[in-house]
Amino acid sequence: RQHKRSLPWRDSKDPYVVWISEIILQQTRVNQGHDYFLRFVEKLPDIKSLAEAPEDDVLKIWQGLGYYSRARNLHAAAKQITEKFDGVFPSSHSDILSLKGVGEYTAAAVASIAFGLPYAVVDGNVFRVLARLFAIETPIDSTAGKKLFAETAQFILDRENPGNHNQAMMELGATVCTPRQPACPSCPLRRVCAANAAGTPEQWPVRT
Ligand code: ADE
Repeated sequence: RQHKRSLPWRDSKDPYVVWISEIILQQTRVNQGHDYFLRFVEKLPDIKSLAEAPEDDVLKIWQGLGYYSRARNLHAAAKQITEKFDGVFPSSHSDILSLKGVGEYTAAAVASIAFGLPYAVVDGNVFRVLARLFAIETPIDSTAGKKLFAETAQFILDRENPGNHNQAMMELGATVCTPRQPACPSCPLRRVCAANAAGTPEQWPVRT
């Protein structure tokens, strides 16, 4: 809470806004995603406007981000919400996961940030933070690793405040626990971090 970056989508718990921002952030870094996000929600501020927009308009806003299937899926999901959920963004994890283009990452992000549901997010940043915190030697790109990291993330989740917890994990990975030269001296977890104790944080995460 104290050191979070001030980001436009953080002013909102509107599931639509959280969903759009998380899909955009899968495509680009936070800095670049910022402007795309603002343009997207300015032109298409809610599910109804997205569902009713011509596909070309949606693709035009997306232009430059690449991977246009993400934009097409956003559009299709908005129609899905209109038809199947009466235009109201679904509030259960399984319904969110049923939306076009929404995988485990997005479902956990929206469920936790917008609805306060206890689902841990596991993205590249979270993998790195967990690998270092617990000095996990299982490769992150192995089947066993994916399972272990997902379970570990879920185990340490703050169930009282899963949205903040998930964003704090991602934030730590993006700003402090960076791939190269992590800022261990200013890390809030330095006293309990196994990689910091070892003195060689860059040794983690391990890959096959
Ligand atoms: N990366 C993707 N989504 C994020 C979020 N909500 N907070 C911080 N980093 C992110």
